[in-house]
Amino acid sequence: MALKITVIGTGYLGATHAAAMAELGFEVLGLDVVPEKVATLAAGRVPMYEPGLEELLNRHVAGLEGSSGRLRFTTSWDELEDFGGDVHFVCVNTPQKHGEYACDMSYVDAAFTSLAPRVKGGALVVGKSTVPVGSADRLARLLADHAPEGVDLAWNPEFLREGFAVRDTLHPDRIVAGVDGARAEKLLREVYATPIAEGSPFVVTDFPTAELVKTSANSFLATKISFINAMAEVCEAAGGDVVKLAEAIGHDERIGKKFLRAGIGFGGGCLPKDIRAFMARAGELGADQALTFLREVDSINMRRRGHMVELAREAVGGGSFLGTRVAVLGATFKPDSDDVRDSPALNVAGQIHLQGGQVTVYDPKGMDNARLVFPTLGYADSALEAVRGADVVLHLTEWQEFGELDPASLGRVALRRIMLDGRNALDGAKWREAGWTYRAMGRPRA
Ligand SMILES: NC(=O)c1ccc[n+]([C@@H]2O[C@H](COP(=O)([O-])OP(=O)(O)OC[C@H]3O[C@@H](n4cnc5c(N)ncnc54)[C@H](O)[C@@H]3O)[C@@H](O)[C@H]2O)c1
Repeated sequence: MALKITVIGTGYLGATHAAAMAELGFEVLGLDVVPEKVATLAAGRVPMYEPGLEELLNRHVAGLEGSSGRLRFTTSWDELEDFGGDVHFVCVNTPQKHGEYACDMSYVDAAFTSLAPRVKGGALVVGKSTVPVGSADRLARLLADHAPEGVDLAWNPEFLREGFAVRDTLHPDRIVAGVDGARAEKLLREVYATPIAEGSPFVVTDFPTAELVKTSANSFLATKISFINAMAEVCEAAGGDVVKLAEAIGHDERIGKKFLRAGIGFGGGCLPKDIRAFMARAGELGADQALTFLREVDSINMRRRGHMVELAREAVGGGSFLGTRVAVLGATFKPDSDDVRDSPALNVAGQIHLQGGQVTVYDPKGMDNARLVFPTLGYADSALEAVRGADVVLHLTEWQEFGELDPASLGRVALRRIMLDGRNALDGAKWREAGWTYRAMGRPRA
């Protein structure tokens, strides 16, 4: 019989994971503490924007016409207990602690505390949240104290990228299984049998290594982005072109082309808080020196946001933003997502607004979330409306829609034709031909 799977925490990670598990043929129950989220998912709708996820939900959510009926959602721990899952994935949030670098483990702890007495003997609990190294050992002891006999723990970090979450979950580029015994490994191999058969590498580790794989992977990616942004700073000082530089160094296979686009840097619900939590945890372990470079990675990244504000200030005359109109294209931290958590785009928009600029933001999918975070910014229903009457236009999230904009049409409604490309993603020549002053980060002025 197919395994019964529960997913605790149905946000970006959990909702996708639950739907993917149903797609792989398992019977799945998703549990979240937010009733509105559960009601939305149970109706086959996605509370966030994630390409392909709604289709997957509609294929499997019980009660929807033509669905497999294998996927249900609930807020009830009693229902979870009655469901009698064989494998329980914990996918709750692990944000940065307020006022500290460390990870706030209270959601994970609460989920494990609720779950432990409700799992059946012999079940497997699998942590997927990104946690500080050492957490799995501690949570295994919690399960030993509060769960029935024979309940195992595994740590199986998640590497999905928002915008590609469905594809990444169904066809992962690797599966990392942190286990403490053969039984947990066997069950995880059963869960992931399809992607393993397709060729996804299955890497078996101990608990600490599995936890560290996730935080070190994110640290590497953050470092790569800050590296090219540091090169952009030097290019700006020396009159070089960081786009050409990235192209040239990217031809070296040891370096590679990906994640070498200079701009206003990384954000979102993962990289910034994960590298900070990693530093904090290394400090607790007495290994803080090993990660001091991440402090620099973080500050290079944050500096780019300030630099974008200064480029905009220069564009409007070099003084105050008072009385100036600034159009901001993009609010989400990356394209193909509605996620505005620690978004560099919103941060830049907010800084200019707080300094007196009249900022109008447009984003294809992130408007509702942006309004919640920053209700005092101006919002427009299209790029054209955002640009109408603007003294300067800032391109801050590289949505495909912005790459396809017609500079001539925008030029007719803008007060002044100044485009600042914070993502090095627009075709500068096209904008210049249409009469715009086009500036991008780390590139010479034309
Ligand atoms: N979003 C990503 O791209 C991504 C990728 C890889 C790893 N991660 C990691 O996955 C974890 C979840 O991230 P996310 O982006 O999905 O967060 P999220 O905030 O979108 O979702 C977390 C969900 O957990 C629920 N929750 C909180 N406490 C709960 C409890 N006690 N019981 C049941 N549900 C509870 C929340 O209501 C929320 O719906 C984090 O550790 C994150 O670092 C996220």
